[in-house]
Amino acid sequence: MTISSKALKDKHKNHRQKNTMGVLDEAFIQAPEHRPKTHLTNSGDYILSNEIPTIDLSSLQDPHCDKTALAAEIAEACMRWGFFQVINHGLSLDLMRRVEKTVAEFFSLTLEEKRRVKRDEVNPMGYHDGEHTKNVRDWKEIFDFFLQDSTTVPATTEPEDTELRKLTNPWPQNPSDFREVCQEYAREVEKLAFKLLELISISLGLPGDRLTGYFKDQTSFLRFNHYPPCPNPELALGVGRHADAGVITVLAQDSVGGLQVSRRSDGQWFSVKPNPDAFIINIGNCMQVWTNDKYWSAEHRVVVNSSKERFSMPFFLFPSHDTNIEPLKELISEDNPPCYKKYNWGKFFAARNRSDYKKLQTESIQIDRFKAA
Ligand code: OGA
Ligand code: NI
Repeated sequence: MTISSKALKDKHKNHRQKNTMGVLDEAFIQAPEHRPKTHLTNSGDYILSNEIPTIDLSSLQDPHCDKTALAAEIAEACMRWGFFQVINHGLSLDLMRRVEKTVAEFFSLTLEEKRRVKRDEVNPMGYHDGEHTKNVRDWKEIFDFFLQDSTTVPATTEPEDTELRKLTNPWPQNPSDFREVCQEYAREVEKLAFKLLELISISLGLPGDRLTGYFKDQTSFLRFNHYPPCPNPELALGVGRHADAGVITVLAQDSVGGLQVSRRSDGQWFSVKPNPDAFIINIGNCMQVWTNDKYWSAEHRVVVNSSKERFSMPFFLFPSHDTNIEPLKELISEDNPPCYKKYNWGKFFAARNRSDYKKLQTESIQIDRFKAA
């Protein structure tokens, strides 16, 4: 702890009472090179930025629309940033507001009540306030649920062990409409995710349905993130720098802001200007591998602040557990040999879940491990 002023200590105390996340424990402190530069207000990485492309999906309302123009915009965004924002996406704004409301109500329950639907080492779904990214604890609490109730995953991380496990979602009693609203929202976000997947396939010169076969038994899940105010936002992160592991992520957020994206060309951090009516779409590791590095799975992180809580809702589109991820045959050639070796999605997912759950002795699993020599 570096801050000792009385005011901050008092804030600290209030925080502890209000948010039950405890004082800023050592586990939250980022290494100096990974701390956000929150003191930079008009230079460096803390300027609000509109740099990531915004794509207007209104033409998709017409089922006979020509998708090639949209696909071209998406191709450009996926190559340069691996991140873009979509507006006029077809999801009901009323539904978005309803899910935000019930999620805020859930997180305002007592810790005791939230822990009744706690995640554990067998089932990664439910409530959790001990998430780690690259072995540093994140300043947030979460609630996760699988899109498919139940979802089949490998029972262990052992490569030779073929035993499977069926997992179901733990749902809280309160708020009473929570489950229904969350599931309605999940189905709508899923539809949007598959429309985007189709556009991405077209953008790669592939048939629109080229990738759908990998999702028969999808392991996709929805996450609600709650980032409480943080007494030391210059030392901690809401989520440490990471790239999402799956295919694509479809994220909604409130108007507070805090998401930052690392630019592909130079690694510079850019803040994303929040728009609660839009979705942020980002490319995950699977898509980067499928496209043999043509599309970029950007590192991103979340900075927190000392006065405002923030909510966000990512949907992680994940393939079936038995999918082997490797560069798509159609996209490799003699001039463009595969950059990655094949890996099994289910085993990768299981290993990631272990490392997010608690601090491990070793580095968490990353796709770099599958880079071809
Ligand atoms: C995540 C994530 C960003 C945000 O949960 O993987 O990157 O804005 N969240 O909350
Ligand atoms: Ni992420």
